[in-house]
Amino acid sequence: MMQDYLETTKNIYKQAAETPDVGLCCTTTPVWAFPELSIPRIMLDMNYGCGSTVHPRDLVNSPKILYVGVGGGMELLQFSYFSRQTGGVIGVDVVDEMLEASHRNFKEAEAQNTWFNSSFVELRKGDALSLPVDDESVDVAAQNCLFNIFHEEDLKTALKEMYRVLKPRGRLVLSDPVAEQPMPESLKYDERLRGLCLSGALPLDDYIKMITDIGFGTVEIRAKRPYRILKPGKYDTPYPIYLESVEVSAIKDPMPEDGPCVFTGRTAIYTGDEEYFDDHKGHVLMPNQPLAVCDKTAGNLDALNNVDIWVSPSTYHYDGGGCC
Ligand SMILES: C[S@@+](CC[C@H](N)C(=O)[O-])C[C@H]1O[C@@H](n2cnc3c(N)ncnc32)[C@H](O)[C@@H]1O
Repeated sequence: MMQDYLETTKNIYKQAAETPDVGLCCTTTPVWAFPELSIPRIMLDMNYGCGSTVHPRDLVNSPKILYVGVGGGMELLQFSYFSRQTGGVIGVDVVDEMLEASHRNFKEAEAQNTWFNSSFVELRKGDALSLPVDDESVDVAAQNCLFNIFHEEDLKTALKEMYRVLKPRGRLVLSDPVAEQPMPESLKYDERLRGLCLSGALPLDDYIKMITDIGFGTVEIRAKRPYRILKPGKYDTPYPIYLESVEVSAIKDPMPEDGPCVFTGRTAIYTGDEEYFDDHKGHVLMPNQPLAVCDKTAGNLDALNNVDIWVSPSTYHYDGGGCC
């Protein structure tokens, strides 16, 4: 029964709320440290994310933030560091025990951080598939290591919900595992492995397409890091599956007529003798100066077969500075 995996997931996180499990979603992403931010030990032990969704560049002008799937509350505390207003961060979770645990952790954070007040975070009981949040009411909507658990139809619903609650030009920030090898059915439908964020991973292009199909016009791949290996013998798979964790930001801006702009860290450099190169689609390359370009533009420039235009491969660590 497909619905059962959602119940299994709730039970996994009920347990993870009651008994912190340090290795649950262990990641190589360093934990953000900011001046005068002290993260309580219990929040670090309950860091069940697989990357980071906190990026200072997204967080100017005291944004209103939604965070779905609160875990121990560490990222909500980090978001509050930038938002610093009553109810500036809304935390939604479907598991009562997780809401209670994070509430306790915020009290601990209050004791350790003079700038922080628990009222900066408003916790709401609710489901990612039906958010208790008004339309177009938040600037940033984040989730870390929850959406990969959802099967495709539920993932579509969860993404649509994030799109609905974001203001125009607002940002969806996600971190999830991805895998380029196909996930064997035996693992894909293993409710427990899915709930543990191990077997719901999609190939990166499919994951991005799910996001752009909802209507997000711009997507940025901010990081891609090694995450786990599902080894034959230990897992029911005939081949090793390499999981990576990605950090992605998607902007709710209009869809360009020629399709979404997906930035994966590609750069174009003009090496010719003219004053500049103009592709007449909004990109002017100055001699020997790098210009960050989206994959669509990189492909168009490559297709010109112009020896004076060099286009770099994807780094998957894009951090702004481009024009598509
Ligand atoms: C893998 S943990 C990630 C926690 C947190 N984002 C972090 O980075 O530490 C998944 C979180 O999503 C919550 N969750 C599970 N199913 C949910 C659902 N359908 N709607 C909202 N939250 C859900 C769990 O209770 C848990 O807090």
